[in-house]
Amino acid sequence: MRDNLITVAYIAASALFILSLSGLSQQETAKRGNIYGTIGMLIAFVATAFNPQVANYKLLVAVIIPAVIIGAIVASRVAMTAMPELVAMLHSFVGLAAVLVGIGNYLNPDSSLTGAEAFIHQVEIYVGVAIGAVTFTGSVVAFGKLRAIIPSKPLLLPARHLLNLAMLAAVVYLGYLFLYTSAGLQPLLIMTAIAGVLGIHLVAAIGGADMPVVISMLNSYSGWAAAAAGFMLNNDLLIITGALVGSSGAILSYIMCRAMNRSFISVILGGFGEGVNVVASKQQASGEVTPTNVEEVVDLLLNAKSVIIVPGYGMAVAQAQHGVSEIAAILREREINVRFAIHPVAGRLPGHMNVLLAEANVPYDIVFEMEEINEDFPNTDVALVIGANDTVNPSALEDPDSPIAGMPVLEVWKAGICVVMKRSLATGYAGVENPLFYKENTRMLFGDAKANVDAIVAALRQKLSQDKPAATALAAA
Ligand code: TAP
Repeated sequence: MRDNLITVAYIAASALFILSLSGLSQQETAKRGNIYGTIGMLIAFVATAFNPQVANYKLLVAVIIPAVIIGAIVASRVAMTAMPELVAMLHSFVGLAAVLVGIGNYLNPDSSLTGAEAFIHQVEIYVGVAIGAVTFTGSVVAFGKLRAIIPSKPLLLPARHLLNLAMLAAVVYLGYLFLYTSAGLQPLLIMTAIAGVLGIHLVAAIGGADMPVVISMLNSYSGWAAAAAGFMLNNDLLIITGALVGSSGAILSYIMCRAMNRSFISVILGGFGEGVNVVASKQQASGEVTPTNVEEVVDLLLNAKSVIIVPGYGMAVAQAQHGVSEIAAILREREINVRFAIHPVAGRLPGHMNVLLAEANVPYDIVFEMEEINEDFPNTDVALVIGANDTVNPSALEDPDSPIAGMPVLEVWKAGICVVMKRSLATGYAGVENPLFYKENTRMLFGDAKANVDAIVAALRQKLSQDKPAATALAAA
């Protein structure tokens, strides 16, 4: 009876996880998707705790209660900009768990397994520990890079591909020893160490600009590590959940690679997105910069028929989204066509800008993905770039030597006037100079994005309140 209930609970949790993923794929349904996922996890958690194999409830409670408290505090305190770091840290836990479950399973084997079943179980242990070790150390390095504890510059050792191949060959050879000889624990532990070094080396070789892909790739690895742990523990729900995470992470990595014009393989092999210190570009951005001020920008906006707002990481840092939403609302009231253009890797995590705009109540129907809106810039009067840099860098299209060459970008310079709001001429995440700042139709509004956005909102309101009495008087006359 208890087993049947657990099976039903696991099926319900699996269905909720699938519903959660489908909900998360669209902004309108994302909240609902999140709730489905939370309920699914709660059901999975309770059902697993009632598994007859669980004997020591005291230990379970002693471990779970502090973990739940720490998790809740960390997650509620994390800044949106630090979310990728948190995700990387959580991936490392999944990897470590797979390693520990695997080694624990080997040391305390299920004696009921014999023959082919026992062999398959050994394979599950070996593969699970290998994926877990790569995920664990790779995620720790990714966390270090995102936290800037480790430089984001790629570590490019000579013959690094050969080194990776040699480590892979050693993992395969040790697998043979583990499965076909009585050497047992020793090859398993040596392989864990080598897979750990492989994880460090693989992620260390990847530069800053490719970090988002690495995070989603590690997300995928952590899913496969969880699925492997599910096989080891004979837990169907863990296998299903792991497979869902593994495949969705792989699909997300592919989508992001396409958005950055990178091949998935070349990202995994490292050496791209080389960060601040490696400037391969021969064309240095230079020329005259045209600074502007809040009054001029307000005039430009009020005289425009169509405006496209392009948010980037700087808007997130400055927390300017509420002011930006107000600018859009005021302009829309004046019947100006205002839309938002979102680059797939704007900010620091997938969907970063969408989340911020949703939080600021920007209507979904004026928020467009890059491919939906990029062709409209030539017919737009004003492009308002708020804290975006790499994602609007023309050198991606114009300079074949640029480190971001070939990456699709929002072509803001094709608008009548492009206003760029940032604090200086500094580079963005990829460390690449931006010729946009020197274009004839670009106006630079220097300063903190929130301060400037708030000043624009105040000036817009003041202008409109001055216009209103004049309009009323005209109507009365
Ligand atoms: P970035 O290229 O990173 O540029 C952001 C700009 O915001 C900076 O140049 C900075 O210039 C400005 N800024 C920072 N704080 C500001 C503030 N308080 N007020 C005004 N401006 C401020 O941003 P992006 O265009 O969104 O591109 C994202 C980059 O991050 C890409 O290279 C992408 O590959 C990478 N990345 C993306 C993700 C995902 S999945 N979205 C994850 C990790 C990395 P100043 O210093 O001059 O102000």
